[in-house]
Amino acid sequence: MNHLIAPSILAADFANMQRDIEMLNQSEADWIHVDIMDGVFVPNISYGFPVLQAVKKYAEKPLDVHLMIVDPDRYLKEFQQKGADGITVHFEACTHLHRTIQGIKELGCRAGVALNPHTPVAFLDDIIEDLDLVLIMSVNPGFGGQKFINNTYKKLHDLKALSAARNPNLFIEVDGGVGGQNVKELVNAGANVLVAGNSVFSAGDQALAIKNLKNPQ
Ligand code: DX5
Ligand code: ZN
Repeated sequence: MNHLIAPSILAADFANMQRDIEMLNQSEADWIHVDIMDGVFVPNISYGFPVLQAVKKYAEKPLDVHLMIVDPDRYLKEFQQKGADGITVHFEACTHLHRTIQGIKELGCRAGVALNPHTPVAFLDDIIEDLDLVLIMSVNPGFGGQKFINNTYKKLHDLKALSAARNPNLFIEVDGGVGGQNVKELVNAGANVLVAGNSVFSAGDQALAIKNLKNPQ
C-alpha cells in the first residue's frame, strides 16, 4: 500500500482552524490527525470535544484521533459521536487493553494502540491480531516540534515483521519529528501512515509540504 499522510492540527493556527482544515481538504493529505492531551498522561493540555466537533464540521477527510489521556474508556463513545473515524489509545494508559480495543471497534471506529518510545513492540504479541493500527511514537508524547528519536527505526522493523506474520493489513503509523528529511527512510522501514505537524504547518506552502511527504523524491 502507498503510505498515507496524516497532518497533525496540533501545529495548525487555532484562530484560523476553518482555513487550515480547508487547506487540508484541498491537499494530498489522507487523514487529519487530532491530538487529545489531558495534562495527566502527558504534561500538556491540547483540546477536547468542542474543537473536535468544530473540525468535523469542515473536514472532508477521516479524523485520526490520538488520545494521550488516562482512562480513555470513559470517553470513547463521545469521541466517536463528536467525529472520530479512528481512535488510538496509549498502551501505557490501558490496564484492560483488550476490552478497550473491542470497545472502539464496537463503536465502528478503526482501533489503534500507541507505544511510547520506551515501550517494546513485543508487548503487542498477544493483541496484534485485534488491532487495525499501531502508532509508534518517535518523540515523547505531549508536544509538537520535538527531535525524532532514532530507535524508532528498530521498532518499525520489529512491527513490520510482526505485522507481516500475523496482521498484514495493519496500519503502521509513526508520529513525531517527521518531515522531508526522514520520510523515505521511515517508509522503507515499514511505516505506512506518517503524522506530520510542524513540518507541514510551518512551511510557506503547506499543501506543497504535504505533496512532498506523499511523493518523496
Ligand atoms: C505529539 C503528538 C504529535 C505531534 C507531532 O505528542 O502526538 O502528533 O503533533 O508534531 P511534530 O510533527 O511537530 O513532531
Ligand atoms: Zn499524535
